[in-house]
Amino acid sequence: MEILTLARPDDWHLHLRDGAMLRAVLPHSACHFARALIMPNLTPPIVSAAQARAYHGRIRAALPRGSDFQALMTLYLTEDSDPQDIATAHARGDITAVKLYPQGITTHAAAGVRDFAKLRPVLEVMAANGIPLCIHGEDNNPTTDIFDREARFIERILDPMRRATPGLRVVLEHITTCEAIDYVREGGKDLAATLTVHHLFLNRTHILGHGLRPHYYCLPIAKREHHRLALRKAATSGEACFFLGTDSAPHSDADKQSACGCAGCFTAPVAMALLAYVFEEENALCHLEAFASRNGAAFYRLPVNEGTLTLTRHDAPVPGAAKVSSAAGPITVFAPCLAQGGPLRWRAAPCPTLLQREG
Ligand code: NCD
Ligand code: ZN
Repeated sequence: MEILTLARPDDWHLHLRDGAMLRAVLPHSACHFARALIMPNLTPPIVSAAQARAYHGRIRAALPRGSDFQALMTLYLTEDSDPQDIATAHARGDITAVKLYPQGITTHAAAGVRDFAKLRPVLEVMAANGIPLCIHGEDNNPTTDIFDREARFIERILDPMRRATPGLRVVLEHITTCEAIDYVREGGKDLAATLTVHHLFLNRTHILGHGLRPHYYCLPIAKREHHRLALRKAATSGEACFFLGTDSAPHSDADKQSACGCAGCFTAPVAMALLAYVFEEENALCHLEAFASRNGAAFYRLPVNEGTLTLTRHDAPVPGAAKVSSAAGPITVFAPCLAQGGPLRWRAAPCPTLLQREG
């Protein structure tokens, strides 16, 4: 197959940042994706509907001319979040989902949740109103080993939380383990998971085993090889509970390549081309549309996007930009080691609507 046409995809987990960084990275998502769920971990975090509306306005203002990209907003859950504010923001269409970060677990998670029992009233209102809760599922107990954080969170926090709140609709974000895959598969219609592109390429040896690779460092951290292989099978299976959330998380090179480097892989420019590569390797190109364009929309109860994205397979390796420049300095674009699979051969065409209107 040389040309693959999909309904325009959605990115169900995206960090766009703000200001100069937002202007630098947004076009790379807007040219391939029709919609994205925007993470609220700015400094300060997006905790109110008014902040979400203002951030939405800044995203719209930063869009390339002619783009019809839709930013779907989220609120950052804290121990002080007011259940009624959340219900009202969702009913008015200001937000699509609410994001839960265990306190301190990742970039800008200082305002996250320490005492999960305090969430009880909010979670009940969310369950009653069908408002999805997106969870960064890692245990923030300081004694929990970084490679065990996801499995530990499921057993210690997520499972009790879901049992105590029937009907709560949960997306377990950027899953990285067999334990999470199994849990989501068995979790019923109210549970789904996003998978990133980079976790389909990385295991922990890629980060640490051949020199320290700061641009492969993200959270949750990539695990052992058997987890990566299971993630590839889950993503390419076509199962409705798994869909794409790139977690594209730009940081300047200065912030990545430092004595205390930031977590996050910037994958937006190459996400769809890399996905086509993985799905082709797994003989599952027929399931790429389910993963990138259909399953997430169905979970979020939204229509599949109109229009299409075309991916083309080339005979020669496709070169891509290694860096995106921003006023905050250069940002390295994720480039996996393709030693086993040969060079990347797929290219995603820019969004036709954008070309038409700009042309
Ligand atoms: C994200 C970021 O930089 O905001 N980093 C990451 O490693 N994924 C935060 C997050 O989603 O954990
Ligand atoms: Zn993220």
